[in-house]
Amino acid sequence: MTDKAPTDDRADASSGFFDETYDAEQLPDPLPESPFPMFEEWLAEAKDRKDIPNPNAMCLSTVSTDGQASSRMVLCKEVLAGRGAVVFYTNYDSRKANELAGNPKCALLFHWDHQGRQVRVEGQVTKAPDSMSDAYFASRRWESRLGAHASAQSRPIGSRQELVEKVMEKAIELDLDLSKVIDGDGRDLFIPRPANWGGYMVWATGVELWCDGAGRVHERARWDRDLTDAGGGFEGGPWRVSRLQP
Ligand SMILES: Cc1cc2nc3c(=O)[nH]c(=O)nc-3n(C[C@H](O)[C@H](O)[C@H](O)COP(=O)(O)O)c2cc1C
Repeated sequence: MTDKAPTDDRADASSGFFDETYDAEQLPDPLPESPFPMFEEWLAEAKDRKDIPNPNAMCLSTVSTDGQASSRMVLCKEVLAGRGAVVFYTNYDSRKANELAGNPKCALLFHWDHQGRQVRVEGQVTKAPDSMSDAYFASRRWESRLGAHASAQSRPIGSRQELVEKVMEKAIELDLDLSKVIDGDGRDLFIPRPANWGGYMVWATGVELWCDGAGRVHERARWDRDLTDAGGGFEGGPWRVSRLQP
């Protein structure tokens, strides 16, 4: 598959619906029982490219209890295909976390522009187990680990300088070797995971795969399933799939 040209540049370049020279991707027919293997494949193909800085970036939309939607980018750190869940990490006191506490239903959106692909996920979150958050936190660069302690994410702050001072205050509170922090050589510093930082698992109830089709007649398919509570997570029922008009 060749890279997609900017959509506006293609406006007059008619490809027609039946032009077999147009290199359009098609969703399989019949559609697979679960969307997750294809979703994983698309994510892996985006990661294989060297020209996408954050191939795992996804837009997370939450809705507050008064019905106000809000969106921001986060990084998808894991796709648990067998369980149908997507994992991201954040601050548990942030705006998004507060909104998820009041309303655990959220939506995720991936867009890989070069490949003309979009994945939508709707679902419900649970906090990731501590062991999972600990393992991921330990894998992060030391600067990010220290930053997670210093930043009261989503809260106002007077200046950049105040934030930098908070980083140093946290380093003192954590009893870190300050010369290493100042020298930027903190690889071996022990920085534990803050209690208010960790993962969320988005348990998918709906997934849509979209790809750019010939003649702007795009390919869309949507999978839905029900979730049942399984103590700290969910068990997913069978997927129901349908092809959608673009
Ligand atoms: C490409 C990209 C990736 C990001 N990844 C994360 C992430 O994984 N976790 C996170 O908390 N914030 C991440 N951010 C910052 C968020 O977009 C957002 O500013 C922050 O989480 C605060 O959001 P909130 O106030 O709505 O909670 C990322 C931003 C960008 C642009």
